[in-house]
Amino acid sequence: MSDTMIHRHTRLSIFMHWFNAFCWIALFLTGLGLIKNDQLNPVGAWWPNLMRSLFGGGENLLAVHQYLGMVWAAAFVLYVLLKPRDTWLFLKEVFTMSPASDLVWFMKMNLKMTLGKKGLRKFNMTPDMPPQGFYNFGQKLFAQASVLGGIVIVATGMIMFFSTIFLNNPDPVAWSRTIHYLTVGLVFAGLLVHIYMAAISKEERPAFMSMFTGQVPQHYAKHHHQLWYDQVAGKNKAES
Ligand code: HEM
Repeated sequence: MSDTMIHRHTRLSIFMHWFNAFCWIALFLTGLGLIKNDQLNPVGAWWPNLMRSLFGGGENLLAVHQYLGMVWAAAFVLYVLLKPRDTWLFLKEVFTMSPASDLVWFMKMNLKMTLGKKGLRKFNMTPDMPPQGFYNFGQKLFAQASVLGGIVIVATGMIMFFSTIFLNNPDPVAWSRTIHYLTVGLVFAGLLVHIYMAAISKEERPAFMSMFTGQVPQHYAKHHHQLWYDQVAGKNKAES
């Protein structure tokens, strides 16, 4: 097994990923603290009370949530403006799918994770998976949800923010609030799987390390992202 390392993430994309993760978690925790309603307390009243006492009241908590949300969105707008090519390549990678092999990959992965390799054999399936590109189908689904969800969350957040200044009509705010909560809930469900797959699952440990070092071992790339590995290997061969 070769230990040669292959470049996977640039420093800037690593920074953007961890900045995004920090903002998501901080926005999620402050957002949960803003829900203070006796009939709708997703984690109990203790959390909103704790957040409000930490931030010196509900108004301050709301301001922190709103301005952090704007900093988060502005950083991504800046990234898109300064790195249009990288943004395009990322979106192209994430939104390009091969339904036939991706669905087989998805089904086999779920069976493998729930029933193990023996379970796959029960259904007359071999444990080998259809080859994947830079991201596997599961990573693509979550990346799609976080890009589209992020846009919806920012748009509904902006509507709520500006309507308190310019609008007298409560309807857009009520709709935006509902869509904001639902979208956060959906992306958060995906995030739990993302964190499990990325940080806890042993098989993906090299990908987790690459989010700090920017590199993965060649054998990992070959085994988990064969289509991407073939591209990189082909390019290196052509260059030498
Ligand atoms: C806080 C815990 C998190 C951990 C441990 C984590 C871990 C990782 C790792 C290891 C990768 C690289 C996968 C690879 O190279 O194959 C990755 C990629 C990615 N993560 Fe996370 N992540 C976290 C939070 C988030 C959050 C909050 C979001 C968005 C809501 C997110 C969205 C993404 C996206 C879109 C990618 C693919 C794009 C890229 O490579 O930067 N992650 N994550």
